[in-house]
Amino acid sequence: MEFSHESVVVRRGRRSRLPIVVAVHSTALGRAVGGCRMWAYDSWEGGLRDALRLSEGMTRKCAAAGLPNGGGKTVVVVPAGRSLTADERRDALHDVGDIVAELGGAYVTGPDAGTGPADMAVIGERTEYVFCRPEAVGGSGDPSPFTALGVVAALRSTCLALFGSPALAGRRFAVIGLGHVGEQIARQLAAAGAGLVLSDVDPAKRSLGAELGAVFAEPDAAATAEVDVLVPAALGGLLTRDLVARLRCGAVAGAANNQLADPGVAELLREREILWAPDYIANAGGVVNAVSREVLGDEPEEAVKRIESIADTLTGLFETAARTKITTAQAADDLARQRLSVPVPTAPGP
Ligand code: PHE
Repeated sequence: MEFSHESVVVRRGRRSRLPIVVAVHSTALGRAVGGCRMWAYDSWEGGLRDALRLSEGMTRKCAAAGLPNGGGKTVVVVPAGRSLTADERRDALHDVGDIVAELGGAYVTGPDAGTGPADMAVIGERTEYVFCRPEAVGGSGDPSPFTALGVVAALRSTCLALFGSPALAGRRFAVIGLGHVGEQIARQLAAAGAGLVLSDVDPAKRSLGAELGAVFAEPDAAATAEVDVLVPAALGGLLTRDLVARLRCGAVAGAANNQLADPGVAELLREREILWAPDYIANAGGVVNAVSREVLGDEPEEAVKRIESIADTLTGLFETAARTKITTAQAADDLARQRLSVPVPTAPGP
């Protein structure tokens, strides 16, 4: 991987003694934004790799969504097999807050896998550069319903491209990963009358399957189920070469970041005529809501309109890719690069 980041801080937290990585990929369009992942890794290098990839993805995500922001990401490396006590968690969040504060506004953090609005309030005890604190203390709150809203908008575009109609009723979806975002996608799809295969590594999520009248399956069985659209909503790297060869869906569109195990998988999907909604286009709703509400000062309805415009962006990319015979990944990267070469003024905030 070529080093393209503006700055990367790797530090053992003064309080928590945990490895913490804050990667600022780009501030070309404005302050870098990106969530704080608190997750188990086998090594700190694994956390570093994740932060490097995810922060770069945030640059593309923000650019393609038309936000006046660049990309960054924080990873708190929790040793595999250990769970943090409440005090250790608070210490780690304060350590993150200190690093973010030192960056002086070049980077604004937010929630990601393993963190939520309450954690953002704790980070907020050390720095003002934090999105998505609870609404009660002036933040925009949990971004996951907005990420889910954007993904469902993307699923409508995907159905439009596959079937000529954006209707979700009667279509079949396999949702892999029933965390904050995946569960809400599943609920919205069920409410729209779609058929569902659901999967999660946590067997306790079976109850959601029962509640929504869905089939619950093991991850690999769900990923290879015969459905219209496969919806990755767990951690990254689901689409390996091996899995793509075995897929039985018409399209893949979901919430997970970094879905392609390697960039070449985009071409394999195209060869198999499986339509792929680029991850950072489909899953931008959370960060769009946060920036819209906390930086641009939008009312909730305006933020929702911005999130729903993901549908048009995606439809445009599907058309460009089909017309110019490139992968949808390439079409999305072209869009992001084009936005990055036309700077927009930095907005104040958050
Ligand atoms: N975790 C969100 C994502 O991957 C990023 C986010 C950052 C959301 C800041 C809200 C605020 O897109």
